[in-house]
Amino acid sequence: MSRQTDLAYAAELDAHDPLAHFRERFVITDPDLIYMDGNSLGRLPQATVTLAEDLIQHQWGECLIRNWNEGWFTAPERVGAKIAHLIGAEPDEVIVADSTSVNLFKLVVAALRFQHGRSCILTDNLNFPSDLYILQGAIDLLDKQHRLDILPSPDGIHGPETEIHNRLDNQVALLTLSHTVYKSGYIYDMPAITASAHAAGALMLWDLSHSVGSVPVDLHAAQVDLAVGCTYKYLNGGPGAPAFLYIRRDLQDVLRNPIAGWMGQRDLFNFELEYRPTTGLRHFLTGTFPVVSLSLIELGVDLLLEAGLDNLRAKSQRQSEYLINLWEEFLEPLGFTLNTPREADRRGSHVSLGHTEGLRIDQALIHEMNVLPDFRPPDTIRLGIAPIYTSFRDIHTAVMSMQKVVIDRLYEKYPRQAPVVT
Ligand SMILES: Cc1ncc(COP(=O)(O)O)c(C=O)c1O
Repeated sequence: MSRQTDLAYAAELDAHDPLAHFRERFVITDPDLIYMDGNSLGRLPQATVTLAEDLIQHQWGECLIRNWNEGWFTAPERVGAKIAHLIGAEPDEVIVADSTSVNLFKLVVAALRFQHGRSCILTDNLNFPSDLYILQGAIDLLDKQHRLDILPSPDGIHGPETEIHNRLDNQVALLTLSHTVYKSGYIYDMPAITASAHAAGALMLWDLSHSVGSVPVDLHAAQVDLAVGCTYKYLNGGPGAPAFLYIRRDLQDVLRNPIAGWMGQRDLFNFELEYRPTTGLRHFLTGTFPVVSLSLIELGVDLLLEAGLDNLRAKSQRQSEYLINLWEEFLEPLGFTLNTPREADRRGSHVSLGHTEGLRIDQALIHEMNVLPDFRPPDTIRLGIAPIYTSFRDIHTAVMSMQKVVIDRLYEKYPRQAPVVT
């Protein structure tokens, strides 16, 4: 009989995992690499390799400009419609282009102009820093007519939900939060927070970067106004792949894109001199989108749709629970803290473990143990679970490697300065 903390038990769990076969659909060149960073950059789907070849050799190489009429021009909507299935939106409410930050900027400026007369943007200090920079930039652009209120988390892990409910008043133009928090993995109660924002007359904008493809989201059920999100994490879209934005249908023609450009122009090939935005979501496009990287997102999304988001979430919860059990037995005694919510329903798909030597432990894991997590200052090692390819064995090996790095003091030879990308 294997113990619940043995490698043999991990192997049993893998053997009974109905999604295990999806791992073969990804490029895995080093079977011994324990990849725990799918929450930062997802793995490469096998099918995407074939598509990339076709995009470069055939679509670009042979068809040249003719391919704009063979699927390139409509790619932002086509890929967006598939992502819509993952987040409870209608197919014509999601479009792909630009980075998450740029999409956020467009939506924030549009929302603030729409909410004329209201002077506050509300967010929290768990939000992704780029989101906060974008909010500051938007305030500058609009001549500092708005104040940014950043509510503090009570413990650096959980969102300040009560404070948000209490702080919402008739001066708040926009409430914007990360649905799943990048550092701790905390998940906000989307329906309750959105309802509270609406009761105060504020618009609600969610950053779904750490939710999409791993945590079920139902934007319609929660009547969400606006959302953005990354495609290079759980969607496996590729490094720097463009992001998506969502605008509820009834807001699409009343909000104006602040970066007007020809891709959002009505009848763009008439080349008129005056900007006349097209209807629907497409007027939130600006310039020519990166066709190759945008097209490569699609097959990763197809894989998630095939596996089923509810199945993926169930596996992710089983896996994060398993990881936390291993932490309790092997890592807590070595000084690792759990920097992630304990309640499974309030936890996304990564587990954050804190340690005073977190940065150096992370370096030792990468360079000595062939384990790839990531590190977020001041002390957090994030272990990303991408249930479509992460195995229970990966999780077991990652935890045992962390234990070894600390017991054998393998981290001591690493400097305290962080490399550029952690
Ligand atoms: C929650 C969140 N929002 C925004 C971003 C920034 O995305 P982009 O680089 O596409 O602007 C990230 C990047 O990791 C993120 O994690």
